Amino acid sequence: MSVMKIPGHDHQGPREVSLEEIREVMGDCQLCPLGETRNKLVFGVGNPHARVMFIGEGPGKNEDMQGEPFVGAAGHKLDALLGVAGLKREDIYIANVIKCRPPANRNPKPDEIAACSPFLREQIRSIWPDVIVCLGNFASQFVLQTDAGVTTLRGRLHQTGHFVVAPTFHPAACIYHSDWQPLLEDDLRMVGRWLTEHPVRGEAPAAGDVPGAPASGTDGGVA
Ligand code: URA
Repeated sequence: MSVMKIPGHDHQGPREVSLEEIREVMGDCQLCPLGETRNKLVFGVGNPHARVMFIGEGPGKNEDMQGEPFVGAAGHKLDALLGVAGLKREDIYIANVIKCRPPANRNPKPDEIAACSPFLREQIRSIWPDVIVCLGNFASQFVLQTDAGVTTLRGRLHQTGHFVVAPTFHPAACIYHSDWQPLLEDDLRMVGRWLTEHPVRGEAPAAGDVPGAPASGTDGGVA
């Protein structure tokens, strides 16, 4: 897998590049047409040393106005759900597959995802979380490099290289499909259990694959 070059770094191992350095490389990104229509680029927010990273789809209207992920209705829903996993906003980092709002909140296009994903990969490498929670199809399919839908993937933890990956429904989808809400809660409860059963390890991170590229050591479940 290619590594996006960050100035000043010969070797970009886990946790070696800061999120600020990645943001600086993104600058006023115009790598895809969404650069022209966005109001604010939504890079990501949260704890740079988080054990748990959440990945959503892309900014909506409120996120585009404020430049922060998950500040609208989906964000309020996410806040209310974090406690199910024993987490608070300050514990986690949140980013999206694409950093700019698609017009009228349409789905991201494959070439937009391809243009934006090197930044997400570097964010993951910088944070090097233990667990990645993928909210919805786009994040789940990107991280697990699969065409399978979240309905098939959810309900169990997947090991992808270093990372434990929990695909689950997007909180916004649960606003329209209320029967998915208890399943989303089950998935977050499973994440909370995993965190309790695997207390923080103190060792330095080993080099490894980052999601979004076929990883060594991907299996069907670690729950
Ligand atoms: N939905 C997302 O996927 N991301 C956001 O930041 C907001 C809503």
